[in-house]
Amino acid sequence: MALNSQLINIKEASEWATSYLRRNITSSNISYLIQYGRIKKIGDNGDTFVNKSELIKYYNSFYGQREISWKEKLGSDLNWHLSFDNIKEAETTKHVHRLHPYKGKFIPQLVEYFLDTHTDEYKKETFFKKGDIVLDPFAGSGTTLVQANELGIHAIGIDISAFNSLIANVKLEKYELSNVQDEISNIVNKLNEYLSDSKFVAFEEELLGALSKFNAAYFPPDYKYKVNAGKINEYTYGAKKETEFLPIYRELIKKYRIKLKQDNSNTFLDKWYIENVRKEIEYVFELIKNIKDIKTKKTLSVILSRTMRSCRATTHADLATLKEPIIATYYCSKHGKVCKPLFSILNWLERYSEDTINRLTQFGKLRTNTYQVCLTEDSKTINITEVLEKKNPDFAKLVKNQKIKGIFTSPPYVGLIDYHEQHSYAYDLFGFKRKDNLEIGPLSKGQGREAQESYIIGISEVLNNCKKYMIKNYDVFIVANDKNNLYPQITEKSGMKIINQFKRPVLNRTEKDKGAYSEIIFHLKEK
Ligand SMILES: C[S@@+](CC[C@H](N)C(=O)[O-])C[C@H]1O[C@@H](n2cnc3c(N)ncnc32)[C@H](O)[C@@H]1O
Repeated sequence: MALNSQLINIKEASEWATSYLRRNITSSNISYLIQYGRIKKIGDNGDTFVNKSELIKYYNSFYGQREISWKEKLGSDLNWHLSFDNIKEAETTKHVHRLHPYKGKFIPQLVEYFLDTHTDEYKKETFFKKGDIVLDPFAGSGTTLVQANELGIHAIGIDISAFNSLIANVKLEKYELSNVQDEISNIVNKLNEYLSDSKFVAFEEELLGALSKFNAAYFPPDYKYKVNAGKINEYTYGAKKETEFLPIYRELIKKYRIKLKQDNSNTFLDKWYIENVRKEIEYVFELIKNIKDIKTKKTLSVILSRTMRSCRATTHADLATLKEPIIATYYCSKHGKVCKPLFSILNWLERYSEDTINRLTQFGKLRTNTYQVCLTEDSKTINITEVLEKKNPDFAKLVKNQKIKGIFTSPPYVGLIDYHEQHSYAYDLFGFKRKDNLEIGPLSKGQGREAQESYIIGISEVLNNCKKYMIKNYDVFIVANDKNNLYPQITEKSGMKIINQFKRPVLNRTEKDKGAYSEIIFHLKEK
């Protein structure tokens, strides 16, 4: 047997890896690698062995190296179990979790880890069981509530942003999906009729024809390969081809007498949509307003909102961070060719309608018969039972009798995101009341001393308020990247104590910066 392919037990593996990597590798680290199929388990009657050569291969691989280098940067107490690096994107965005984009979501598996009844060497006891009530005072798009439902746990969410509550509640409703489907078909048919009268169909057809000829000539299949190999300078070549195509585009705009810009640019909807797209949005919105069934109406509103988000006048690369409205063809680095702005919402509306029905159907099969609702309120001051009473008296009664078992939440952090602003297109169209001034830690207030002070006060007000509705021996879990070390003060002000901290690596972040990054899940209890 080759020296490196010898079998060793878990304890030996941890000792060997500790000396090989010159850092502490515990038995549980090795078990984790086995559990998630990174290395093979050998033997099954009580004695577990692993192959040393497999361990060497793992620690030299991309995943192994990443774990090592992240622990070097962030500390060896990083709990790699909570990286969920074995979970595919389809799982982290499963069923209703991808009903609408939302910046600042946590992944459902993280919620599951703390709400479900498993234990491991980090989570040594369980905190919630079927029939308990969990609260998320910063519910956002409702991840905690959806996972609570899957696990048979009742849940209350609170969010200051009416649009976020809408997204959360649409995920949680029980539907007659045939009704949603009928309304979708009706709207799509009407939009098709509306479009058949418009010159945009012929215009787009001609434009697409011209673009495909141009792209085939100048961006052949090996174009990206040549860019990557340094044979083509994408920046100058792309800009040159963009300029070359523009006269063709302008000619077509003239030929079909297309009006691109709207007459004013006062609101988000005025500024960020090509005139025809805006008209179609308004047209569909009018149709949605006439839908009688309120749940269906809300679902269609979320589909329209998701469609609107994809139809803003921006490049494919800038969808997440809008720069300037784009109303002409442009070189697209994402697709490696010249792309066009959107002139109609139809394709996206159809695509998202189908996707929404599929996702609601998938979740429908997993649902438990429990209560979940998201309330649009300020968590600092809400009277939970009173507001709930109006929405769902039975649930309110349960909360009064049984009380809330604990909290699982990810609060905003200081100066990172403006939660109303990220969906301003929806606020403009639906006319929801904005309450930006009640948001805790908004981006607009920055990250300075004053912002931090007011953040500490805000979060502790929320915790003090929520305590009134919880059992005495509650468990509070707060997910935060507390780089300013504010949570010890917040905890103190809330009459709580930190009893444990789970340090979790955050992988696959969508932001450009893909560096090592961790967040902490604070476990708090009454002091
Ligand atoms: C980090 S996000 C939560 C995301 C959520 N965990 C998810 O997966 O979708 C924080 C949320 O707190 C909300 N928020 C900010 N201030 C609030 C307040 N005073 N009361 C209630 N919610 C607030 C924001 O609107 C935002 O949706």
